[in-house]
Amino acid sequence: MCGIIGYNGVKNAIPIVINGLKNLEYRGYDSSGIAYFLQDKVKIIKEKGRIKDLESILDSSKPTLCIGHTRWATHGKPSRENSHPHQVGMITIVHNGIIENYASLKEKLKDEGYLFQSETDTEVACALIDSLYKKNKNKLEVFEDVKKILKGSYAFLILFADEKDTIYAIREGSPLIVATSSIGNFVASDIPAILEYTKNYYLLLEGEIAVIKQDSVHFFQDKKEIQKELLTFQFDLASAKKDGYSHFMLKEIHEQPTVIQNFLEYYLDNLELIPDISLYEKIHIVACGSAYHAGLIGSFLIEKYGDIEVEVFIASEYRYKKNFLNENTLVIFISQSGETADTIACLRLAKSYQAKTLGIVNVVGSTIAREADQVIYINAGCEIAVATTKAYTLQVLTTSLLAYKLGLKTGLIQDSEKILSDLKKLPDEIQKILSIDYEKLAKKIYKKHDIFFIGRLLDYYLSEEGSLKLKEISYLHSETYPAGELKHGTISLIEDKTPVIAVLTDESIYEKTISNIKEVKARGAYTIGIKRESLEVEENIFDDVIEIANLNDLAISPLAIVPLQMLAYTVANLLGYDIDKPRNLAKSVTVE
Ligand code: G6P
Repeated sequence: MCGIIGYNGVKNAIPIVINGLKNLEYRGYDSSGIAYFLQDKVKIIKEKGRIKDLESILDSSKPTLCIGHTRWATHGKPSRENSHPHQVGMITIVHNGIIENYASLKEKLKDEGYLFQSETDTEVACALIDSLYKKNKNKLEVFEDVKKILKGSYAFLILFADEKDTIYAIREGSPLIVATSSIGNFVASDIPAILEYTKNYYLLLEGEIAVIKQDSVHFFQDKKEIQKELLTFQFDLASAKKDGYSHFMLKEIHEQPTVIQNFLEYYLDNLELIPDISLYEKIHIVACGSAYHAGLIGSFLIEKYGDIEVEVFIASEYRYKKNFLNENTLVIFISQSGETADTIACLRLAKSYQAKTLGIVNVVGSTIAREADQVIYINAGCEIAVATTKAYTLQVLTTSLLAYKLGLKTGLIQDSEKILSDLKKLPDEIQKILSIDYEKLAKKIYKKHDIFFIGRLLDYYLSEEGSLKLKEISYLHSETYPAGELKHGTISLIEDKTPVIAVLTDESIYEKTISNIKEVKARGAYTIGIKRESLEVEENIFDDVIEIANLNDLAISPLAIVPLQMLAYTVANLLGYDIDKPRNLAKSVTVE
């Protein structure tokens, strides 16, 4: 993870880099630092904590070239020593990624006389570059050697003490963009860092090197200069601002009616953009976090309407197991960022077995979007809050459209008009659910220690996401169980007033869940229902209930998740937590 930015231009670089780091904080926020040339030396200022802690120790220098870093600790705890930039000899670097062979390299470099101040892998990479540069002053050749020696993933910005007007950037496995503007040139982990200044950018690809001067950028691959296409970012700055909402998460929850409306208008008018996946013998869906939860819903819908076997896997497991892949398997990769390290590794693994690959991705031009055989963009716009909401909803909806298209072909969808009409109701129905007073309900649970979520099938998968949202931002312990499984052990944890949140949208199975709710209620649970309005339940089943519209199962999940998102948000808000940047988390997980 980690966010990195460099600026080389005509303005004071420090506020530009600090501002860029603030827009990259979603990638990590436990320490930060900057480096710039002061007379003949590279000066480093870095500090543990948030960017505001770094700001408090800045001096009045006004360099026009600067690099910066915001960290999510991997090697070594958050501390000033472990913060980036790191400096060894002639070299100063910031790094996003993990150097896997750093321990053996460190020993070799110690034998050469290098001493290390930090516990990081980055300082080892810095020493390696210094050692190679001492022996060979051709920087492009040094970078080729670095690429051969280092194992793992990295995006580096590098300053050479003997070249005061240049930032070098290399990337292998971790993302980097290079951007041009009227005030100078930028290099950064992601677009929000530079969006205030320009929308024009180049995507640095694996193994490419960028040389960033004040008035030019040059790109190299295998020591030869290459030309790259200048791209234009499609979203505007407004999507990276809070627009009066107290948090990005709240803003992004409220954007759901609009992004869903746009998504449906676009894809229902262009259904040919949703690939026909009926020809495969089996389908795997691979993802992490909330994207995995979206995959669970997708598997249910594709199996139900497409009549194809679908299995869903967590990427960090899939990459190390036997998967029986061949050219008749389709592997679908769901990822908001398109840069999640484990998901990328699985994509490359699937391709090595000749399986066909489909990405469901938000970030245009990201690694998964580029490397998958086909891609469906969910077009959620910038999602800044670490806890995903609108991207998850659109991931779910994308799988609905895959299932819908399959169902038309298999004949398992007969009333397609009703499905389309239900899908089109989503924006209005979500708007209605958003206007509920969640605080009353949140106050009943925010001081509890354990909260349980239950449901069956789709309702279980939705519960998984609801529970994750609550854990991520409110730090309350919560568990999700398939409702029927609770009695095989976990029901022993139910005590007087333990909150149990049940999701009930699936008409075919909700009565079974009701029996399970009765079981926990009999043991004192305080029950909350998220219930489709047409499902009949006895009056005293729920202590509190939120009713949602009576939509088809291809449409209902993006609606049913909204009260759970709002409940998690409101609980975290009552507890006063930093909702957009929850502790220990990062939005884009670019390390294994
Ligand atoms: C992190 C984020 C989650 C996200 C997961 C997968 O854990 O905090 O919100 O679901 O990564 O990310 P991706 O970008 O692949 O969807």
